[in-house]
Amino acid sequence: MRTSNLNILAFETSCDDTAVAIVKNGREVLSSSVFSQIKTHIEYGGVVPEIAARSHLNNIFQVTKQTFESSNLKLEDINLVAVTCEPGLLSSLLVGINFAEGFALSRDLELIPVNHLKGHVASLYISNKNLEPPFLCLIVSGGHTQIVEVKNYVNIKILGQTRDDAAGEIFDKVTRKLGLDYPGGTHIDEIADNGIDNFYKFPRPKLQKYDFSFSGIKTHTLNLINNLKSELIIENLLASFRKSVVDYLIFNLTKAAQDLNYRKIAISGGVSANKLLRETLELECKKRNWEYFKPELKYSGDNAAMIGSQAYYEYLNKIKKVK
Ligand code: KG4
Ligand code: ZN
Repeated sequence: MRTSNLNILAFETSCDDTAVAIVKNGREVLSSSVFSQIKTHIEYGGVVPEIAARSHLNNIFQVTKQTFESSNLKLEDINLVAVTCEPGLLSSLLVGINFAEGFALSRDLELIPVNHLKGHVASLYISNKNLEPPFLCLIVSGGHTQIVEVKNYVNIKILGQTRDDAAGEIFDKVTRKLGLDYPGGTHIDEIADNGIDNFYKFPRPKLQKYDFSFSGIKTHTLNLINNLKSELIIENLLASFRKSVVDYLIFNLTKAAQDLNYRKIAISGGVSANKLLRETLELECKKRNWEYFKPELKYSGDNAAMIGSQAYYEYLNKIKKVK
């Protein structure tokens, strides 16, 4: 079985992005296309699963064609097929899985199922060519908030996670209440940058170990919006809210790193695009002389390149050549 010059065709359809990529040897992205369904879901203020699945169905063929066209590769240049298998919206996942199975069957190729969260971790390998496990990673997205120990390429251990809302989810819910378009997390920096970040105060629940709870911060913020009405200073609210979430994330992450003696820290997932989070964590790591890794912005949100990258390591593990 070959382990070099492996071109992996990868599919990601777990939520509202129809994404296809071709990745060589886990680290080199030969082509990556993401068709975002945001415009379709905007009028509903969030992702509607039935509509998401139909949109994947309508677009996956074209996105795949486009991925091949921009790579200059042919069907016969593909050696393996990968697809996100979990977690995610079932009907959306099924579109990618069926399409990938069909492709693999027609070319007589092996199909590698990939966990979406491991994919977010693998986005770091694409953007940081020298990064190797072990390291500690904060995965922050619209659906998940987890602190994980990346023990090796295929084995991650969850040390802490949210017990209720995810960080991206509360960014989206609060901004939605303020009338900003979905996904509101993507607009938070531009408004919060103009506000005073200690103007409003927020609760910070202390849970066991490195777990999070964001529902209290969310409810408190929504109450402020309801109660203050015209007295509310939106820039100050979003600046204070963003800071309280970011500080909470970094507090638990640095605590876990200290307790477990990790000096290599990373962030990934859609919320890792947040400017305050990226910059504050960088400063915290510098202060402690820790190495700090983040994905390029184009790989922080959902994409298929990260799935192709993780699939490479899953494949190597199967044939036992992975550290
Ligand atoms: O990883 P992702 O693309 O999809 C999931 O797996 O959930 O993450 C999407 C989440 C959304 O909640 C979105 O609002 C948030 O990432 N997000 C941000 C930023 N860009 C995207 N949150 C805060 N600041 C950003 N700059
Ligand atoms: Zn994701």
